[in-house]
Amino acid sequence: MKRVAVLGATGSVGAGALEVIRRHPDRFRVTVLTAHRNREALDALALEWDPEFVVLGTPPPHGFTPRWSGEWRVGPDALEDAARSPRADLVLNALVGFAGLGPTLAALGAGKRLALANKESLVAGGALVLRALSEGGGELLPVDSEHSAVHQCLAGRPAAEIARITLTASGGPFRTWPAERLAAVRPADALRHPTWAMGSKITIDSATLANKALEVIEAQTLFGIPYERIDVVVHPTSIVHSVVEFRDGSSLAQLGRPSMEIPILWALGYPEHLDDARVEPGFDPIRDGPLEFEPVREDVFPLFRAGVAAGEAGGEFPVAFNAANEVAVERFLAGQVGFEELSGVVLRTLEGFSSRAIESVEDVRRIDARARGIAREAPGARSRRSRNRVSTSRETNE
Ligand SMILES: NC(=O)c1ccc[n+]([C@@H]2O[C@H](COP(=O)([O-])OP(=O)(O)OC[C@H]3O[C@@H](n4cnc5c(N)ncnc54)[C@H](OP(=O)(O)O)[C@@H]3O)[C@@H](O)[C@H]2O)c1
Repeated sequence: MKRVAVLGATGSVGAGALEVIRRHPDRFRVTVLTAHRNREALDALALEWDPEFVVLGTPPPHGFTPRWSGEWRVGPDALEDAARSPRADLVLNALVGFAGLGPTLAALGAGKRLALANKESLVAGGALVLRALSEGGGELLPVDSEHSAVHQCLAGRPAAEIARITLTASGGPFRTWPAERLAAVRPADALRHPTWAMGSKITIDSATLANKALEVIEAQTLFGIPYERIDVVVHPTSIVHSVVEFRDGSSLAQLGRPSMEIPILWALGYPEHLDDARVEPGFDPIRDGPLEFEPVREDVFPLFRAGVAAGEAGGEFPVAFNAANEVAVERFLAGQVGFEELSGVVLRTLEGFSSRAIESVEDVRRIDARARGIAREAPGARSRRSRNRVSTSRETNE
C-alpha cells in the first residue's frame, strides 16, 4: 500500500489521479491533498478521502468553516513540507507553474518517488532538480504523456543508446489556421483544445506551442540527450505519444487514446502496468488510423522556437522564458494582450537575460521574479516573425 500526497488535487491532473486511485484502493491511500485557492473543492475532497492533513496555498477568507474537521495547513512553506512529509511515500506534483519547483525539490530531497506533471519545475530548475534527485536518492517519474511515453519505450536503457527522441504535438486548436487569422483569437478560442481536456495554462501553451518548447527542455533534462537529437512533430490525433529511435535504427513508440490516466497509472504503478479495465480502450489500428504527421509551423508559432532556443542557450534563459510565458498567459487570459502579442512579451523579457550558470534555488527565484517584473510591463507589441529566435551569447560566439 503506497501512501500518496496529491499536490494540486483540485486541478485537471490531480482529479485524474484521484480517479485512478479510486479504482485501486488496495494499492494506494491518499494521505495529503493540496489546493491553492479552491478551498470548497479541497474540503469536499478531504471529506471523501479523509487524509492525514490538507494544505491550502492561500489563506482562506475570515469566517471559512470547513466541513472536514481534520488538520488544515496554509501557505507555500506548508506545501513544501507536504512534499517531504514522512506521511507519504509517493508525491504527485500536479501543481501548475513555477510554484511547483519548491515542492519538487523538497520531495526529491526527501527521497520520495515523485510523479511529476509540473513541467515548469524541470524547465526553471533542471540542474537543481537533478541534483536533488541524486543527493536525495528519490525517484523521478514523468507524468507528461510524451515523457511517460519515452520513459516506457526506454525501459531503463541508458541515454547512450538513444539516437533520437521525437515528441509529438497535437498542434493545438490553430494548427491549420492561416497566420492572419490569429490576430482575432480570443481566450475562449484558445481554451478549446482539440484532443486534451486540461487546465487553462497548459491549454493556452498548447495553442501557442510554448508547451512543446517546455516539453523539449523537459525531455532534455529528464533523458540527458542533446537538443539537436530531440525532434517535435505534429500528430493531430494524439495517439502516438512519442517515439524513441535507438542507435541501431530501431524505433519504439508508445500509443494510446489521449487520456492522462494512462501516464498517471504508469507513474503511480511503475514498474508494473497496473490492471485497469476502466481506462480508455487501447490502440486500435483500424479505428485510430491512419496516423498522420506534419512539421511544426515554426513561423506561425514563434514561441516554440523561442522556448527551444532558451533551453539550448541555458543559464538564465529557460527560467526567464518560463516566467515570461506564465505572465504572458495570465495577461492574455485577462484580456490585456492579444494572442499574437504573447510572443512579443516573452521575447522582450528574454532580452534582459544571459546564459550565466545558475548555482542555487535562490538564483532561480531571483531570475524568475525579475523576468515576471519585466513581462508584466512589456508592451504586447506584435512580434515580428523575423525575431522569432532568442539571440544568445552562444549564437553570437559562433
Ligand atoms: N492537464 C493535463 O492534462 C496535463 C498534461 C500534461 C502535463 N500537465 C502539467 O501538469 C501541471 C498541472 O496542470 P493542470 O492542467 O492539472 O492544472 P490545473 O487544472 O490548473 O490545476 C492546477 C492545480 O494546482 C493548484 N495551484 C495553482 N496555482 C498554485 C500555486 N501558485 N501554488 C500552489 N498550488 C497551485 C490549483 O489549485 P486551485 O484549484 O485551488 O487553484 C490546482 O489544484 C502543469 O504543469 C501542466 O503543464 C497537465
